[in-house]
Amino acid sequence: MKRNETTLNTNLPSWLNDETQNELRTFLQGNRFRWLVTGAAGFIGSNLVETLLLLGQEVRGLDNFATGHRRNLLEVRERVGEAVWSRFDFHEADIRDAHACAKAVTGVDYVLHQAALGSVPRSVKDPNTTNDVNVSGFLAMLDASRVASVRRFVYAASSSTYGDEPNLPKREERIGNPLSPYAVTKLVNELYASVYSRTYGFHSIGLRYFNAFGPRQDPDGAYAAVIPKWIAAMLAGDDVQINGDGETSRDFCYVGNVVQANLRAALLGELTASKVYNVAVGGRTTLNDLFSIIQAGLATHGIHYGKRPAYKPFRAGDVRHSQADVSNAVRDLGFSGLFDLQRGMTEALPWYLAFVTGEKAAV
Ligand SMILES: NC(=O)c1ccc[n+]([C@@H]2O[C@H](COP(=O)([O-])OP(=O)(O)OC[C@H]3O[C@@H](n4cnc5c(N)ncnc54)[C@H](O)[C@@H]3O)[C@@H](O)[C@H]2O)c1
Repeated sequence: MKRNETTLNTNLPSWLNDETQNELRTFLQGNRFRWLVTGAAGFIGSNLVETLLLLGQEVRGLDNFATGHRRNLLEVRERVGEAVWSRFDFHEADIRDAHACAKAVTGVDYVLHQAALGSVPRSVKDPNTTNDVNVSGFLAMLDASRVASVRRFVYAASSSTYGDEPNLPKREERIGNPLSPYAVTKLVNELYASVYSRTYGFHSIGLRYFNAFGPRQDPDGAYAAVIPKWIAAMLAGDDVQINGDGETSRDFCYVGNVVQANLRAALLGELTASKVYNVAVGGRTTLNDLFSIIQAGLATHGIHYGKRPAYKPFRAGDVRHSQADVSNAVRDLGFSGLFDLQRGMTEALPWYLAFVTGEKAAV
């Protein structure tokens, strides 16, 4: 394991509040660790890569570009500059390839495993591929990390694991039956993590993300998430489609909070068992309210979207309401200074404006 002197970059993202920065500084100052971020070319992965590089760390990315984009890595490169970027190396590989996983974890201290096929509808359409990547790929990466004795394996779990559990807010220990093939795969990840803890003493942390959003979340394609899809539709003057009556609710979580949770989970002291934490804000916003928030946000940039939403039938596999109890993450991880939907939206919108304008210019 490599330990070099390192200093923290002063251009840290604005969402890393003072307290978090100070804690990370205390831990990382003088230590340069090597991190593996799988799914590095994706939305959350590329935000992790950017932050870790700015924190003076050595970062290896792994991705097969199934849903991620080279442009995300190029953007990170531009943002951090060439000197910082020289601490990044990239493996174009598939997490289902055990040999590639073993190679990727060589010399690595911390693994932040993000690679997976997201999207409930994608899994309903093609459960086999989702299972293959999210279960077999997860297991290959988990096992490679165990064999390499990495310091910590932190992985992207999901709020979809709550399934048909009706109570709000969702607490980690109370889950229902999964409602989609995707949810099954994320539940299986947790089961493997817990079995690896009991069988091999290899303890890990799963982070159940609740509807993350922010810069570099893909607005294009059939399986785009609701926030980027709607922003892109409003910018293009297209219809915004709402599945159901719009009263479906979610705990939308800015990507900065997700990155913070990953870093804190990796750097948390000794574990005696595998753990799972909710990563969200603890808020609940209906899709109808989300529509108005994005509309109002764009208006502050002089873009006025006057259409009403187009209501469509409910979608198979969707959970009706979702809201997290984040008190365990606050207590154990020190999860704090969270960006709520409004603040996250203020940060994210300029990126989408630039992205969509750039896309148009490129056509
Ligand atoms: N975005 C959310 O709201 C959300 C919510 C809950 C859980 N998650 C989980 O967080 C993680 C990251 O999601 P995201 O939103 O950044 O999605 P994303 O699609 O932007 O990123 C996933 C990345 O994994 C890569 N990938 C997919 N299959 C791969 C394979 N076989 N080998 C190597 N790389 C592969 C993709 O190319 C992509 O770059 C995923 O595990 C997802 O299930 C996301």
